[in-house]
Amino acid sequence: MESKLFCWILLSLLILSCFVSQTNEKMQGQTLVYLYKSRLKQNFGVDTSLFKVINHVNEANVHPQVGLKEEDRIERLPGQPLANFSQYGGYVTVHKSAGRALYYYFVEAHHSKNSLPLLLWLNGGPGCSSLAGALLELGPFRVHSDGKTLYTNKFSWNYAANVLFLESPAGVGFSYSNTTSDYDKSGDSRTAADNYVFLVNWLERFPEYKDRDFYISGESYAGHYVPQLAHTILYHNKKANKTIINLKGSIIGNAVINDETDEQGMVDYFGSHAIISDQDVYQIHKYCDFSPNATTQSRECEASYGALEDNIIDINVYNIYAPMCFSSDVTTRPKKASELCGDTIQVWRDSPSTIIPLLKEFMSSGIRVWIFSGDIDGRVPVTSTKYSINKMKLPVKIAWHPWFLNKEVGGYTQVYEGDLTFATVREAGHQVPSYQPARALSLIKHFLEGKPLH
Ligand SMILES: *[C@@H]1O[C@H](CO)[C@@H](O)[C@H](O)[C@H]1NC(C)=O
Ligand SMILES: *[C@@H]1O[C@H](CO)[C@@H](O)[C@H](O)[C@H]1NC(C)=O
Ligand SMILES: *[C@@H]1O[C@H](CO)[C@@H](O)[C@H](O)[C@H]1NC(C)=O
Ligand SMILES: *[C@@H]1O[C@H](CO)[C@@H](O)[C@H](O)[C@H]1NC(C)=O
Repeated sequence: MESKLFCWILLSLLILSCFVSQTNEKMQGQTLVYLYKSRLKQNFGVDTSLFKVINHVNEANVHPQVGLKEEDRIERLPGQPLANFSQYGGYVTVHKSAGRALYYYFVEAHHSKNSLPLLLWLNGGPGCSSLAGALLELGPFRVHSDGKTLYTNKFSWNYAANVLFLESPAGVGFSYSNTTSDYDKSGDSRTAADNYVFLVNWLERFPEYKDRDFYISGESYAGHYVPQLAHTILYHNKKANKTIINLKGSIIGNAVINDETDEQGMVDYFGSHAIISDQDVYQIHKYCDFSPNATTQSRECEASYGALEDNIIDINVYNIYAPMCFSSDVTTRPKKASELCGDTIQVWRDSPSTIIPLLKEFMSSGIRVWIFSGDIDGRVPVTSTKYSINKMKLPVKIAWHPWFLNKEVGGYTQVYEGDLTFATVREAGHQVPSYQPARALSLIKHFLEGKPLH
């Protein structure tokens, strides 16, 4: 396992903090843009049958896992500082006959690992590796600028939970299928089904976590992955009439939630942050149709969108105030690089235009729902998230107010009836824990403990 992770870390060396803004984020963005355009062609609409659960959990896909846990143990990563918690990495087969396997990296909590919850983290894309989340955002180590050693992340989320990073779907990072045509069958429901089979098998490998409180987190396009997986878990628990996976809550950040409002909110964010002109904002709202049934756009819409693109091209849209990285010290790109956001997956078969019905389902099932937003992200900005939440028309339980960390405003929060919490993270870009690690750790602790931010 160590050698595999080692390769990956070598690659991540080039993603020193400023580089994040140019590779990881750009690619995450490209895939999102690509998705939006392909959706216009495919016209998925608000087809709620897209929440249909693919049920390929059967005996053929649940395998004995005896002894595999110890094989997965990672003694120490190359260049890693001393650490007292256990780490594991390895594959879980999710479809035997197709030869499909997903790669995970798991870090146990610094303390109280037997009582702290299990938290799954998913990066988005589609196509982005959750190891990027581990090494650049919320994991226990980050990469030094020498490109050879790691340093401790004082604000790692494994101070609050046992954290499981999963590369999904097959085709992302180390996760693969021996049936390459599988990659063209990717989509929300297949991803959720495979992730579910992964979890069931992973819990066989780590049986001490079977009854543990379980939470799912993620950012960006994981705004789809997280709810789709949670929905699948609830479906199977209900079908079995027992708690197979002890799902307690879900949390998504700068997340794709509802295409129409996501897009409108992005335009308004650029307009209100002096990035595009008021005229273009007006034109876009007048001429562009972001409704789920739109299949074409007018020439006027395309022209004003062209202006938008011209205005954002030279800034980092994932953190609108970030400096661009022109440093010559940045390690050069290796010739053959597995990427943070790869392009193995070219086709995305299903992606409902909204996941709001799933959020409502969780709220009515007593599942904790939190939505956070780094407030200097321009890609899925805070305006988009607010518009999407407003669509749900929920009564306010705790009015909008600032929340604090070390006497400073960490962000703002509002709690809705039915247990939905919205929280901003001040001065954080798209990858919130990367830009504001302390605030992100405080946020996740409050979420896991079910305590309102204040
Ligand atoms: C690991 O645990 C030992 C004993 O509890 C402690 O002395 C040491 O400082 C810890 N090391 C780290 C890196 O936390
Ligand atoms: C994929 O194929 C390789 C080579 O035959 C094999 O070693 C591996 O176990 C297969 N993966 C799965 C998940 O079956
Ligand atoms: C579900 O399980 C409970 C006990 O845990 C039982 O009382 C109930 O009848 C079961 N429902 C069905 C539909 O089997
Ligand atoms: C989409 O549907 C809405 C409401 O049903 C309708 O008003 C609008 O004209 C439709 N847009 C397109 C492009 O068909």
